[in-house]
Amino acid sequence: MFPVNRPRRLRTSQTIRDLVSESSIDPRKLIMPVFADETTEKPKPVKSMPGISRYPVNGLSIHLDELESSGVNGVLFFGIPSSKNETGSSAFDQDGVVQRSIRIAKENTGLTVVADLCMCEYTSHGHCGILKGQYVDNDETLKVYQKIALSYASSGADIIAPSGMMDGQVAAIREVLDNNGYENLPVMAYSAKYASTMYGPFRDAAESTPSFGDRKTYQMDARNSREAMREIELDLAEGAEIIMVKPALFYLDVIRMARERFDHPIAAYSVSGEYSMIKNAVDNGFLSEGAIIESINSIFRAGADIVITYFAKYLAEKLNS
Ligand code: PBG
Ligand code: ZN
Repeated sequence: MFPVNRPRRLRTSQTIRDLVSESSIDPRKLIMPVFADETTEKPKPVKSMPGISRYPVNGLSIHLDELESSGVNGVLFFGIPSSKNETGSSAFDQDGVVQRSIRIAKENTGLTVVADLCMCEYTSHGHCGILKGQYVDNDETLKVYQKIALSYASSGADIIAPSGMMDGQVAAIREVLDNNGYENLPVMAYSAKYASTMYGPFRDAAESTPSFGDRKTYQMDARNSREAMREIELDLAEGAEIIMVKPALFYLDVIRMARERFDHPIAAYSVSGEYSMIKNAVDNGFLSEGAIIESINSIFRAGADIVITYFAKYLAEKLNS
């Protein structure tokens, strides 16, 4: 007998397809990473990420205005400081590159201002914390993270996003925020952050490649997913409001697994290498532009609530036009 069910009935027009779509890309769920650069006077394109530049702090407001007009929800700040040292002290300078950027964004826009909290852009050795020999000392690093958190909070950040993968980092930051009157400031924890090759273009952009070794003693092993659930559980117990999986595209299973287990908002970070692969393929004509939307669809479909992507501005402009 001929089938009674014809799934194609719901695919006959764009309006019906839109009506029954199970997920969508809403610009209000998108966050755009922004590189603020203290070492330059004019925007510096990032070679491996066509369309992405590092912006001088003085010229930041034009870029932020454009982002706000595009309809994206917010920005995630990274800094390229004018000076680095062994202990990364420029990371908690009240007049540091991210602290100034936060103030500019808060004064001039209504964007959600998320500040990435790590030390790798600020240390001369490029690791995400304080070294003891060749090893990143967890608990010494936490003390510095607390100083950075306070400097971000007092600059007016809306959300603090620790990305260093130190044990106990969320609790340490939560404690210092609560003790200083910032009990309402949320933490977006990079909970399941993998040691990934996909950060390559970012490290070029942020000049944060480790001068020796790699990040495998603190970031997660790509072979694991149950371990990611443990990391998330710990961050939630330490008081994180939003949890993150990073990268996104090679880790969609982890996003889905987290979605099934946890009811907290999940952010997924589609990182520099993901942007670079897709953007370069599109620019070369090897993939059609639709690949951009399809890739972001896959992340929302997997269960993410928030997507951090270098395509955020492009997507918001496209979807709002
Ligand atoms: C710093 C940090 C990195 C990224 C975000 N925060 C780099 C790293 O861990 O080496 C990567 C972002 C991207 O690739 O887009 N801890
Ligand atoms: Zn780092």
